[in-house]
Amino acid sequence: MKFTFVTLFANLVEGYFQDSILSRAIEKGLICVEYLNPRDFSNSKHAKVDDTAVGGGAGMVMNPQPLYDALKFLKQSDKNVHIIFLTPVAKPFRQNDAKRLANKSHIAFVSGRYEGIDERVVEEFADEVFSIGDYILTGGELASLVLCDAISRNIEAVLGNSESLDVESFETHLLEAPSFSKPQNYEQKSVPSEYLKGNHSKIRSLKLALSECKTKFFRPEQLLKHRTRKSYEK
Ligand code: ADE
Repeated sequence: MKFTFVTLFANLVEGYFQDSILSRAIEKGLICVEYLNPRDFSNSKHAKVDDTAVGGGAGMVMNPQPLYDALKFLKQSDKNVHIIFLTPVAKPFRQNDAKRLANKSHIAFVSGRYEGIDERVVEEFADEVFSIGDYILTGGELASLVLCDAISRNIEAVLGNSESLDVESFETHLLEAPSFSKPQNYEQKSVPSEYLKGNHSKIRSLKLALSECKTKFFRPEQLLKHRTRKSYEK
């Protein structure tokens, strides 16, 4: 899978791939990462990429021309590229999107800075538009990294242990049960005794009960979805 980050600030993104699971995925050839800077496509004398908003409003908006030309270039070099814009004005990104998008061969993330991107660019090039949550970041770079990370770990062999994908939060609308590591007793706190007894069916039931508790506390609306789905499956 290839990821292209279309950004004025590749340096904000690059560091994330220098360590850990994603750097190993690059070494193994499972993913590759490229950068495209719209400024390199600007026709203006000083490689300008933004301007004041037409119709008024605070802040600067990214001009259409540099992005238009950068994205045209990208599509000419790969007609299968799937172009995703990151903006708070979009549908929320979810785990099922991460799984679905892991099947693409090439994804480009377009990050806006300043007050946003000229809407004509979005209309012309966006295959999808995502927000990562109801808050405003200073730019789309962090959001594009969030998507890239969540998508990458759903690509075959990236995690190295496909089991770890099986019982994750959101797969069933439930948040995951708590995990514990060794030692069994730490600071006078023990791991749940059932986890230690080796009866896997009992451990599974306890984990399900704990998942439901966590979900009820943190995300009650998800518990409702889980219960609705279960009643349909009956
Ligand atoms: N750019 C700025 N804020 C964002 C958000 N919440 N999601 C995606 N892109 C953004």
